[in-house]
Amino acid sequence: MADVPKDLLQQIERLEKLFTVDAHMLKKVTDHFITELDKGLSVEGGSIPMNPTWCMGFPTGDETGTFLALDMGGTNLRVCEIILTDQKSEFDIIQSKYRMPEELKTGESDELWEYIADCLQQFVETHHNGQKLDELHLGFTFSFPATQDYIDHGVLQRWTKGFDIAGVEGENVVPMFEAAIAKRGVPIKLTALINDTTGTMIASAYTDPKMKIGCIFGTGCNAAYMEDCGSIPKLAHMNLPKDMPMAINCEWGAFDNEHKVLPRTQYDIIVDKDSPRPGQQAFEKMIAGLYLGEIFRLVLVDLHDNKEIHIFEGQNIDKLRKAYTLDSSFLSLVEEDPFENLSETGDLFSNKLSITTTRPELELIRRLAELIGTRAARLSACGVAAIAKKKGYKTCHVGADGSVFNKYPHFKQRGAVALREILDWPAKKSPKEEDPIEILAAEDGSGVGAALIAALTLKRVKEGNFAGILHPEKYK
Ligand code: BGC
Repeated sequence: MADVPKDLLQQIERLEKLFTVDAHMLKKVTDHFITELDKGLSVEGGSIPMNPTWCMGFPTGDETGTFLALDMGGTNLRVCEIILTDQKSEFDIIQSKYRMPEELKTGESDELWEYIADCLQQFVETHHNGQKLDELHLGFTFSFPATQDYIDHGVLQRWTKGFDIAGVEGENVVPMFEAAIAKRGVPIKLTALINDTTGTMIASAYTDPKMKIGCIFGTGCNAAYMEDCGSIPKLAHMNLPKDMPMAINCEWGAFDNEHKVLPRTQYDIIVDKDSPRPGQQAFEKMIAGLYLGEIFRLVLVDLHDNKEIHIFEGQNIDKLRKAYTLDSSFLSLVEEDPFENLSETGDLFSNKLSITTTRPELELIRRLAELIGTRAARLSACGVAAIAKKKGYKTCHVGADGSVFNKYPHFKQRGAVALREILDWPAKKSPKEEDPIEILAAEDGSGVGAALIAALTLKRVKEGNFAGILHPEKYK
């Protein structure tokens, strides 16, 4: 970076200080995380919801049957039919994807449920060609924080990921969904309402018994793991057998909403203030895909507006001023630019933002993307380390899914380095050696996971375990 002018060089150094999370800080965040996980399970509760999910056990691989799965994620809506075959841990799947129209995310509640019901109806009609069906069991992946008194029930705690639909927060979403389905006469029974993280954990455990934690690093971020009912003080009044397993959807995006440990920058503060739910999802807003491009954009606008720093000088940056104009795939492209002179990044800026860049500016841009992407991966590792430490897992597999995990360059490797620093693992003897805790690409949690949880729920109800079941008559 020899020919980068002094003002830009100073800014690069400032940004490095601002966005670097060293090993000491990672450990501090992890320790606080453990306290917050415990608090969330306690009677008093904490800012991490730690939602019991009524998914009560891992699959054996012997589950069978045909199930529907509906996935309402952040970006797409997906409907699948999954056949769990009688071959161990094998399944067939057919699926259709529907775009989640942007305006639905901030529209009316009715429009949302009608749209979802239309997609499901279309799927059933296309794939069953008007045949008469027995009532189909459905696993509904609703990837938002929900209080579940039962597995076929879920009160939305709050919208996340930029959703803001009036009349749903504080309500049980199951009857809303069921009413829209009933109107169309589609023969579907909602058997399990699940979170994408729980689905990810269960789908991954179906084929890999070492799987203990499911994570999503995508538009939003979160994790689930298996707890024993005896270690969930807030369920003590239910007198469930102490050693009975219960998947917990941590909703760790809400970690540190009180701003006690996370090293937030002025840019993180703006992201939060300008979001539909200020004060919520503090952790998620620093690491999830929805926000990475926005943090990057805010830094560049701030630098440009500072008269002492000469970046994009004399240019009209109106396109860059538009909030959420850059998503995390833009950052991925910057980090992936293979050319020494960063010419692909230069093209990106000129094509998408009508900004002409100099070589030193490109150097700053690349470094900034690396810093934001690295911070996200390193902070994400704190959550994984916290669950592993809390549960005393010295070795295990963690199933992960989501666009950032699957597509963001170096995310996996940066996360693995951070995990090593937090957990003080000795250096590897050979590069091929597995880490004691590995974060691996998961099986399709919102499809296969939802089907498996529906199957596991049907099975336990048939065996007489009615814990967390609101309408037992549906589970025939
Ligand atoms: C939601 C979680 C979800 C995560 C990943 C968060 O915003 O609150 O329920 O698991 O995104 O999709």
